[in-house]
Amino acid sequence: MRKRNILITGGSAGMGLATAIKFAEKGDQVIITGRNEKKLEEVKKQYPNIYTIASDVAVSDERKTLMSEIKELFGHIDVLFSNVGVGIFKPLSDITEEEFDQLVNINYKGTFFLIQEALKNMPDDSRIIVNASWTHHRGLMMSSLYGSTKAAISHLVKTLSIELADKKININAISPGYINTEQFNEAMLGEEAAQSRKVQVPMQRFGKAEEIAGLVYFLASPEASYINGQDILVDGGLTAVHNY
Ligand SMILES: NC(=O)c1ccc[n+]([C@@H]2O[C@H](COP(=O)([O-])OP(=O)(O)OC[C@H]3O[C@@H](n4cnc5c(N)ncnc54)[C@H](OP(=O)(O)O)[C@@H]3O)[C@@H](O)[C@H]2O)c1
Repeated sequence: MRKRNILITGGSAGMGLATAIKFAEKGDQVIITGRNEKKLEEVKKQYPNIYTIASDVAVSDERKTLMSEIKELFGHIDVLFSNVGVGIFKPLSDITEEEFDQLVNINYKGTFFLIQEALKNMPDDSRIIVNASWTHHRGLMMSSLYGSTKAAISHLVKTLSIELADKKININAISPGYINTEQFNEAMLGEEAAQSRKVQVPMQRFGKAEEIAGLVYFLASPEASYINGQDILVDGGLTAVHNY
């Protein structure tokens, strides 16, 4: 396969980083973003072939600058993995307007306009993968804000599968279950809380970031040419069973 240009937002940690490593190992040109420059520098040191750009997906000017830098340096984007997302988990009554705006600006508005901006520089037959979450497939305590931002981007994917058909661009969402990353991990939860979640999963464990990277790589490959407008759960069976 020819070398492709892969843009991964939020690629300095977790699933974004694991996916960046996967594409880079296979010989693609990978560009990752994140807000924290130190984290990006660490990635650069360890993986010199991964190109890093500091850019906050929630800031309009930064999205635009990111795209013009990519255009200047690499030409076009073949694969966009819109991966950035953050969580605030609280009951509805405790969520402030500030928190609402923060999460919507990153998870929904950021994703929406990042895709709009990237598309200006994506040729026919390119691919888009969006990172949603299992939480919007179920009603879940304390997840009203986070889950609804993820439902919004999952729906966006369905609609864009029609809008992008002329350009033969396939767009899909993925919905990870419990995945051990910087943002969410067993150590952070503590043993008891981690265990209570693990028993909800038929596979009795949390997923690894690499297990998400494999799916993203596949969705960007010619083998996935007829998969479009879907939201694919990767959750060890979590949402397939009744949790009691
Ligand atoms: N972990 C889970 O169990 C889980 C489950 C379902 C869905 N998800 C979703 O999967 C995606 C990846 O999660 P993860 O757990 O792999 O996260 P992670 O380990 O916390 O990594 C998040 C990445 O996004 C970057 N980032 C955060 N806010 C950003 C912003 N405004 N602009 C640009 N970059 C930003 C972070 O770098 P900086 O902080 O330096 O910006 C980091 O590189 C998210 O959309 C999340 O909602 C996670």
